[in-house]
Amino acid sequence: MSQRSCLSVILAAGEGTRMKSAMPKVLHAIAGLPMMAHVVKAAEAAGATGVALVIGHGADEMRKAVQKFAPKAETFVQEKRLGTAHAVLAAREAISKGYDDILVMFGDTPLIDAQALAAARQKLAEGAAVAVIGFRPPSPAGYGRLIEKAGHLIAIREEKDCSDEEKKIGFCNAGMMAVTGKHALRLLDKVGNKNAKGEFYLTDVVEIAGAEGLDVVATEASFESALGINNRAELAEAEAIWQARRRREAMLSGVTLIAPETVYFSHDTEIGTDTIVEPNVWFGPGVKIASGAKIHAFSHIEGATIASNCDVGPFARLRPGADLRNKAKVGNFCEVKQATIEEGAKVNHLTYIGDARVGAAANIGAGTITCNYDGYSKFFTDIGEGAFVGSNSSLVAPVSIGKGGYIASGSVITESVPDDALAFGRARQKTIPGKGKELRERLASAAAARKKAAAE
Ligand code: UD1
Ligand code: MG
Repeated sequence: MSQRSCLSVILAAGEGTRMKSAMPKVLHAIAGLPMMAHVVKAAEAAGATGVALVIGHGADEMRKAVQKFAPKAETFVQEKRLGTAHAVLAAREAISKGYDDILVMFGDTPLIDAQALAAARQKLAEGAAVAVIGFRPPSPAGYGRLIEKAGHLIAIREEKDCSDEEKKIGFCNAGMMAVTGKHALRLLDKVGNKNAKGEFYLTDVVEIAGAEGLDVVATEASFESALGINNRAELAEAEAIWQARRRREAMLSGVTLIAPETVYFSHDTEIGTDTIVEPNVWFGPGVKIASGAKIHAFSHIEGATIASNCDVGPFARLRPGADLRNKAKVGNFCEVKQATIEEGAKVNHLTYIGDARVGAAANIGAGTITCNYDGYSKFFTDIGEGAFVGSNSSLVAPVSIGKGGYIASGSVITESVPDDALAFGRARQKTIPGKGKELRERLASAAAARKKAAAE
């Protein structure tokens, strides 16, 4: 099968009104990736060498988005929504390029797995002209029914056109099908619109091919993989299914999730073996974690790279560009952005490190802040290997602290500190014996006088 070329035609011209959104339905995300991109990924994983997207509603926004996740895909606009067969024909130019297989998919069916698509393509390789992907939903109402005879598919009947007998069939059309490229355009051009909705139904291809004596079959996919999204409740359902699949995959690949149902992955999260993820952790896009790391509860991580044996959280926030090297530690209520925390360095409590490098084995005290922004520009803070930054220090960038530099607690550091130097950036303490008591007495008598004046 691998030698057969394949064009995936993905239909997404529908308005998706039930999403009640200014954004086209298929751009709503699952695991941070537009559902349309999930569909493209599945098509490519099933061997699609070309991708044609049929769009309508929000065409400009769609083209812009597609540029990001499928730059090689061709887009075709279906001006009027006259049915699924009509939509496929909007991509006529791509279909006529002579692909072996044409794989028709829906942009709003994001959980479709590559295996189900590959199984349909396999049927074409074995000689079928059309292979329809079927599934068994808990309730078949609303779906086209697959009418089979002796192992062959003879028709797909839309709910509105079904007899009472046909409505009892539980095997339904998931909407997707594989058609041999050789026959596709001829079959599609024969589709008419004499049905209850007056639309050109893609599903009619089945009977048309049968009438020509071609072989038509159905394959079966899971209910989940055929789940179509029409509103935000279904979007959340699909997200839950996607997350459940991904958590399981992570655990089976050697990652410990203590409370898997509370951990949220992004479509591209990478985690190494023996990493432990505690409850309530969120991974945004672009996270890579090596093995043996500990991600403690309630951490929010995106765009970060975490090396082996790092310790993160609880309640840590790693933002894009956070780069933790081996055994680095970022503890509770710390935020790290666009900064490298080198091997064994510790940023343990209540700290903001942004646009910075923290050298190997450096220790950043509680409440340290890199003041990286003056309201207009960002500046860099460089902290050398083995440096010690005392608690509650402000490092006003651009500034650097040399190797082994030592910053006294409560400092505001505005000038760079050389290697091994000690820097104080605070007012010197003054202690006056007995003065505390005297002050207290003065304040108390002033308060009493005010109270008395108010009462008179
Ligand atoms: C379709 C199938 C039905 C199947 C069901 C599964 C047909 C005729 N019916 O019905 O057998 O059980 O899906 O969910 O195919 N679209 C366009 N342009 C159009 C019409 C549709 O791009 O002119 C796109 C939609 O955006 C959507 C997809 O095609 O992504 C399916 O269209 P929809 O109207 O949802 O078809 P169903 O009535 O659900
Ligand atoms: Mg539908």
